[in-house]
Amino acid sequence: MSITTEAELAGMKRASEAVAYTLKEMRNYAQPGMSTKELDDYGANILSGFGAKSAPYLTYRFPGCTCISVNNEFCHGIPSRNRILQEGDLVNVDVSAELGGFWSDNGESFVLGQDINHHQQLVDASKQILHKAIHNIKGGVRISDIGHLIETEARKHGYKVIKNLTGHGIGKSLHEAPGEIANYKDKFNRTRFKKNSVVAIETFISTTSTYAQTLNDGWTMVGNNGGFMAQHEHTIVVTDGQPIVLTEANGIWN
Ligand code: CO
Ligand code: CO
Repeated sequence: MSITTEAELAGMKRASEAVAYTLKEMRNYAQPGMSTKELDDYGANILSGFGAKSAPYLTYRFPGCTCISVNNEFCHGIPSRNRILQEGDLVNVDVSAELGGFWSDNGESFVLGQDINHHQQLVDASKQILHKAIHNIKGGVRISDIGHLIETEARKHGYKVIKNLTGHGIGKSLHEAPGEIANYKDKFNRTRFKKNSVVAIETFISTTSTYAQTLNDGWTMVGNNGGFMAQHEHTIVVTDGQPIVLTEANGIWN
């Protein structure tokens, strides 16, 4: 969406506060021995306290409130009583929701407890790349140039990017104009970021895979070449200068 009134900005801020706070609280609540369903239920309670509704449920009838993906799962993991979190797991939580007609989206990968499986380097690279990408976005910048920046930075860190997972426009629905914001230089995408538009920027930084594919459960995505992936996501408003990071309260850069 494009923000045209103060009321729209206030609405986007409220929806963003709900998803950012929920993500932060879920990250703090996650513990070894807990099921991903328990973690999802905790997040669902916080979201409903804000009056917010799960975006993947509203949009796709996703069988959960948030997406929780563990280790070899890249994204869209279904919360399950049988999936028990372990020390050192690479966990991705993605929280998106609708509140008062406004939609916001954020996500983060983190290492649960001690980094016994050595995932922290991947997580830190993804965080830094998201920071750099967002701080290079302003009105008039080509979407493909941000994709190029993300891929170049990933390569510098010794990683790859996933080509079929992307950021997106957001605001009046979960996915909208200007469409896909890829993590590589998509030379067919000549669209530019527009001032006052709302977009969700997300990294998909991986160790060995370049495509994500869906498992037989119809939701969970894993790599075409295995390995691990880290994702960090903020919803932002594009300006003439530095963007307004609407989901900053999730604390993923702290
Ligand atoms: Co998301
Ligand atoms: Co998103």
